[in-house]
Amino acid sequence: MTTPQLHRRFPALERTLPFLRLGDAPTPVRKLTGTGRDDLWCKDDSGYGSGGWGGNKVRKLEWLLPELRRRGVRTVLTVGATGTNWGLAATLYGRELGIDTVIALVDQPEDEHVREQLRRLRRSGATLHFTRSKPLTMAAAPWLFLRHARGLRLPSYLPAGGSAPIGVLGYVEAGLELGDQVEAGELPEPRCIVTAVGSGGTAAGLALGCALAGLRSQVLAVVVNETLPLATVDLTRLAGRAAAVLRRRGAAFDIPPPRLTSTRAHLGRGYGHHTTEATAAAQVAEAAGLHLDPVYTAKAFAAALTAAPDGPVLFLNTYGPRT
Ligand SMILES: Cc1ncc(COP(=O)(O)O)c(C=O)c1O
Repeated sequence: MTTPQLHRRFPALERTLPFLRLGDAPTPVRKLTGTGRDDLWCKDDSGYGSGGWGGNKVRKLEWLLPELRRRGVRTVLTVGATGTNWGLAATLYGRELGIDTVIALVDQPEDEHVREQLRRLRRSGATLHFTRSKPLTMAAAPWLFLRHARGLRLPSYLPAGGSAPIGVLGYVEAGLELGDQVEAGELPEPRCIVTAVGSGGTAAGLALGCALAGLRSQVLAVVVNETLPLATVDLTRLAGRAAAVLRRRGAAFDIPPPRLTSTRAHLGRGYGHHTTEATAAAQVAEAAGLHLDPVYTAKAFAAALTAAPDGPVLFLNTYGPRT
């Protein structure tokens, strides 16, 4: 399917909101077996993308990159932790369109997963600045903008995780896709949809997309990052900003407030710190055929194993393939 759901549903957006398909939609849904609960489903975005790199960031880039291209942007400046999936995806997909990516990297607990990710980043063509902490990154920002200006043109800034309101539309799209899959009988309407939250765009977009699709599912946003404001109120506000973009660009709709709750119950000692619960959950997932990462999806899966005992529960797998 090449035309996005948002364009089909709101034809006015075709002219105002450019889209670039980077993966095969819809992504598959399936019931998970051997997890200890018999009402656990998965929508698997791990295979979304092309060129051996996928996961949830690709959906955000489908809206962000064409918007940048339309504005003639040649360099973007963004931020992430040393294992950033977002920074890597932005670099790999951006370079296909001639857009260079500069990333200011803050430290995170180092393990083999992070070291491997850093090796990929170094190979990707991204320009890396090791600014180490949030305060140092903010202090370095003016220099970074000037250092990477092309003539008088400063780099365009993209927030951590690509969770600008336009990036959030990637998961509005996924929510609409899910609505179709429920309607087609591929899965029951989930009582609860569980996803990991690093910068908020995925959960916020999904909740908005579900509301637009008429689903009554509650999104359980499992916070794995303590350095950004990601409480229910913050994520709801982000969903509201994405809805405002859609309305400004010509979509008219009247929907109930997105159903979304944020929890820090699975954060452990903080971003990138493993938890025993998440390690155990990743093993359960592996037996059910899902390969998860320790920073995001294993913590979300731990939440999915116990969420909404009266189910059905849908786990969103946001961890992509990597080569
Ligand atoms: C694998 C994975 N899952 C989930 C997330 C969380 O998505 P978001 O940043 O939209 O909250 C991220 C990135 O932050 C990620 O890399």
